[in-house]
This record gives sequence, structure tokens and C-alpha cells, in this order.
Amino acid sequence: MRILVTGGAGYVGSHCVRALCNAGHGVVVYDNLSKGHRQAVDDRAELVVADLADRDRLSSTMADQRVEAVMHFAALAEVGESVRDPLTYYRANVANSVTLLEAMRSHNVKRFVFSSSCAVYGIPPAVPITEEMPKRPINPYGRTKLVIEWLMEDCAAAWGLGSTALRYFNAAGAAEDGTIGEDHDPESHLIPRVLQVALGQHDEIKVFGDDYDTPDGSCVRDYVHVEDLGEIHRTAIENQPSGQFRFYNVGTGVGVSVKELIAAARDVTGHAIPASIVARRPGDPPQLFADPAKLARELDWKPQYRDIRQTIETAWNWHRDHPSGFGDPKRA
Ligand SMILES: NC(=O)c1ccc[n+]([C@@H]2O[C@H](COP(=O)([O-])OP(=O)(O)OC[C@H]3O[C@@H](n4cnc5c(N)ncnc54)[C@H](O)[C@@H]3O)[C@@H](O)[C@H]2O)c1
Repeated sequence: MRILVTGGAGYVGSHCVRALCNAGHGVVVYDNLSKGHRQAVDDRAELVVADLADRDRLSSTMADQRVEAVMHFAALAEVGESVRDPLTYYRANVANSVTLLEAMRSHNVKRFVFSSSCAVYGIPPAVPITEEMPKRPINPYGRTKLVIEWLMEDCAAAWGLGSTALRYFNAAGAAEDGTIGEDHDPESHLIPRVLQVALGQHDEIKVFGDDYDTPDGSCVRDYVHVEDLGEIHRTAIENQPSGQFRFYNVGTGVGVSVKELIAAARDVTGHAIPASIVARRPGDPPQLFADPAKLARELDWKPQYRDIRQTIETAWNWHRDHPSGFGDPKRA
């Protein structure tokens, strides 16, 4: 299949591009490199450096590359920034998705997989989170993801779009062979932040609150490995039923606390990784982990990485050998 991957030079997208190339698909990465990295793009894929807002370029790329399906990763994804600047988020995430879907409709491309987020649930009434729970996002980032899901559902009814929303929990880890991994600037994700302390790039890791109603008082999250995400995306696009909108929680089903994660990182790195407890961040739900039963049942999926140590090991291999991310690839 010829698949256009928006945001395929980014963290999750680049690992998914590799899974698609490994399966023999023809991949065109469409990325403006605002956050992504040219070096993260698999050599077997073509890279078009352009913005999603560029209607003409999007349209000519779809025609020239004979695109049959689209995977949509390109977005802004910082919760705090979305609260400060919601209009930028609605334009980058919602308006650009409308442009993308319009281009798809005019080129009769009806297969679509979308990076949604567990942020669509807001603060869930219970854990593990099932797809039937209410969707009440508590920040503009989560709301943009939910609006795009509505768009997908409406386009299925109106012109037969077949689409899947994958509501990831926390993407984590790096390619097993150590060649690609996470490189965000600024980095807000916990595992790379913890590993940056082990590399001496920060003095300590801050734990935001340890008085939550959780087993050890720190927040609990679900870390799904990027290579597992790659396989889920591949399966979802290959098995997309026509004209149907589907949605799945994508997590391991295992909740890991911040304190457990730091302890695992100390084991993996052999570094003391100093930590200090600071005030809670507003809007941080105490526990977020997935019930992945629907994904397992309908897409026949089981995570290869269920142990947080294994996931951290792959991340550590990447960060240790690329302390400045793609800017300093010691192995290249
Ligand atoms: N990382 C996570 O834990 C996580 C969790 C849930 C959902 N998601 C979603 O997954 C997707 C990918 O996340 P990520 O962590 O890989 O982010 P990322 O920032 O690493 O990747 C996003 C990519 O999109 C590109 N991009 C952004 N705006 C663009 C535009 N207007 N035109 C063209 N390209 C553009 C960037 O250059 C970048 O390469 C996002 O949609 C995010 O909301 C991520």
C-alpha cells in the first residue's frame, strides 16, 4: 500500500514508518521538520518537507505519490502550551486535520489512522480506562483530539471514510537496535527526563506530588513501547474496514508509578538519579492506565513490552549513545 505519514519524522511517527517499511509498504513522510528530524526517517521512505497547512503541496503529493492511505501523527502535543495558547492548538491540530481530510476526499483516499490520546478521557471515573467511559477532556490539547475523532466519524457517514483513532497512553522506549529514539526539545516526557539526569544533563528529577490516592502516593501512568505502537498502526491500516470509524485504547494495561519508574531507571542505568518531591501539577489525574481488551480482541494485539525495565533499557541505549539526540549520533 502507498501510505502518506504526516509527522513521520517525529518520535512515534518515525518508529511507525519503520514498521510500515519492514512490512513492504511504500511510505511517503510528510513533515515540516518543526519538531521532527530528517535523520529519523527510514531510508526506504520518501520525505516531503512541507506543512500540512499547504493545501497545494498536500494535494500534489497525494496525486504524484499515488497515496492510498494516510496515517496522521503531525500535531502539537504539549498540554501546558495548549492551555496558554489554545488557538494555535486548534489551528495546528483541528484546522490542519480538516485540510488533510479535504485533500483525502478530493483524491478519493478513504483509509485513515489517527494518533489520538488518552487525554480525550480527562479525569476518568475509574481505572483501567475502557473506551466506553465518558470523554471529558480537561485541556485544549485533549479537546482537539476529540474534535478530530468527531470529524472522522462524521466523514465516515458523509463520504465513506474508513478510519481508526488510536488513543495512546504514554509512548515510551526506542528502537531495539538503538538507531532511532525520542528527541523532543523541550523534553517534557518522564522517561527521557529521568535518563537525562543519569547522563548528568540535569541535577535531579522532580516528582510532582506524592500524596495522591495511589499505592505509593505518586501518579500512575501506562507506558506503551514505540515499537509496539508501530505494529498496532501497521495492523490498523492493513485491516481498516471501509466506511467505518473505530477507536481503541492503546496501552499495556499495566500502571507504573513515577516512583516505580525512577527505581527501574536506577537499576537499568546504575546511576543514583536524585529525585525531589515538589507540589502537584494542576490537572494531573492520579491514575491513567488502559484497559486494552478491545484492541487485543479486535486487532489481535499483545504488547511485546510489558515490563517497564525492558522499555527503559531500549530508551537508555538510545539516550546513552545519542546524548544530544539526533544532533549527536555517536554511532553514525
Ligand atoms: N508521545 C506520546 O506519548 C503521545 C501520547 C498520545 C498521543 N500522542 C500523539 O502522537 C502524535 C505524535 O507524537 P510525537 O510524540 O511523536 O510528537 P513529535 O512532536 O515527535 O512528532 C510530531 C511530528 O509532526 C511534525 N509536524 C508538526 N506540525 C506539522 C505541520 N503543521 N505540518 C507538517 N508536519 C508537522 C513535527 O515536525 C514532528 O516531526 C501526536 O499527534 C501526539 O499528539 C503522542
